[in-house]
Amino acid sequence: MKLKYFSHSSFLITLDNGTRLLIDPFLDGNPTSPVIAADVEADYILLTHGHGDHFGDTLSIAKRCDSLCICENELATYIESKGVKAHNMHIGGAHSFDFGKIKLTQALHSSVTPDKECVGSATGIIIFIQDKIIYHMGDTGLFLDLKLIGELHPIDYLLVPIGDNFTMGIDDAVKACSFVKPKCAIPIHYNTFDVIKVDPDSFNKKLEKININCQVLKFGQEITL
Ligand code: NI
Ligand code: MN
Repeated sequence: MKLKYFSHSSFLITLDNGTRLLIDPFLDGNPTSPVIAADVEADYILLTHGHGDHFGDTLSIAKRCDSLCICENELATYIESKGVKAHNMHIGGAHSFDFGKIKLTQALHSSVTPDKECVGSATGIIIFIQDKIIYHMGDTGLFLDLKLIGELHPIDYLLVPIGDNFTMGIDDAVKACSFVKPKCAIPIHYNTFDVIKVDPDSFNKKLEKININCQVLKFGQEITL
């Protein structure tokens, strides 16, 4: 299985059987994205919430690729109203798909579409896939229930926002990692815009001190899980 980081909160997971899962595809309006939406294909699109820097190019990619979008109920209903297939879920619920299982978690954040429709709650997404568990935290502030999530699910990869201003900053993100105890933390949601400029290496160094492994991915870098 491969994990490719497009920058911001956007990833492409490619399974060994070729199935492609795209997460939060903010590509065309994203100054740090190494790809444009027209060059990306997806069988499934997983969305953490409706904000433009996450919803991004969902509709154009889903229409071209006939992708199934998986997300929280109100956002899924909005997506269906735009003529795109969606599977609606909600926080705390899990569902098995052909590729594996998805469970939504809470995220301390809001959710509005780019055309200003309020669409319920922002979420995190836990992806149980092949033999790995990946937890994409979405946009969120720090919350104590992360301890419980880490206790319930042995997370292999924690995709954790560090950019501050809209989400946790580095110190809160380090605390979040100490709660979840992932095998590896990957920082996200930083350096896309001036207001979320931080040094991911300082996050890495702080995690080293508490013995949590961290991998800072370059924008466009693909790793094998
Ligand atoms: Ni947001
Ligand atoms: Mn965001």
